[in-house]
Amino acid sequence: MSKKLNILITAGPTQEPLDPVRYLTNASSGKMGYALAHAAITLGHRVTLVSGPVSLKPPNKAKFIPVQTALQMRTQVMRHFAKQDVVMMVAAVADYRPKHFSKQKIKKTRSSFTLKLVRNPDILKEICSKKRKNQIIVGFAAETEKFLQNAKQKLHSKKCDWIILNDVSQKGIGFNSDKNKITLLNQKGVFLHLGPSAKKNLASIILQKIIRSC
Ligand code: C5P
Repeated sequence: MSKKLNILITAGPTQEPLDPVRYLTNASSGKMGYALAHAAITLGHRVTLVSGPVSLKPPNKAKFIPVQTALQMRTQVMRHFAKQDVVMMVAAVADYRPKHFSKQKIKKTRSSFTLKLVRNPDILKEICSKKRKNQIIVGFAAETEKFLQNAKQKLHSKKCDWIILNDVSQKGIGFNSDKNKITLLNQKGVFLHLGPSAKKNLASIILQKIIRSC
């Protein structure tokens, strides 16, 4: 290894509480983010892992920061961002959170009710707007349709260095699976297609390709 890098990785879902026992979330298992954290440690880098609630064990050598909500994830990413060489935003951050949190459990007295949601901040977009020239920022795009079109749109709108496109339309790959099928894109276009393959294998290939550009 030529240079020991500081790498921050976000992983897992976020949970957006609506009362003390309920929250909105998604099906992210955290497996891809944790595989990247393990691979980065194996390659000798310093890893900060900011993780939503998952049932995985973080690597012993990582600085582990557990969070629940998107707002907490944003606070932690912002706190550690300046000293990172590489940031990999693998977490499936909830786009919306309930506008109001009920301190008491919501009772089923009404036959229906409307839940008002507000937008969460886009953490990836925010750090891309603040990044230094020598920082590399990687976003993930989990898509179910118009794969390349949506990934290219995200790359340009968020202005990140890399987007890793994830096909989550098929069973057995993507969300909550040990395998993944991905495409690496950078500002020049499609760079590489990989998989379907184990997330562990993909993680070390992704890291080596991206670190080469540091
Ligand atoms: O949700 P979306 O498809 O836009 O996610 C693409 C990328 O943006 C992912 O890397 C995800 O971690 C990041 N993201 C974020 N903050 C959000 C939503 C997504 O950092 N509120």
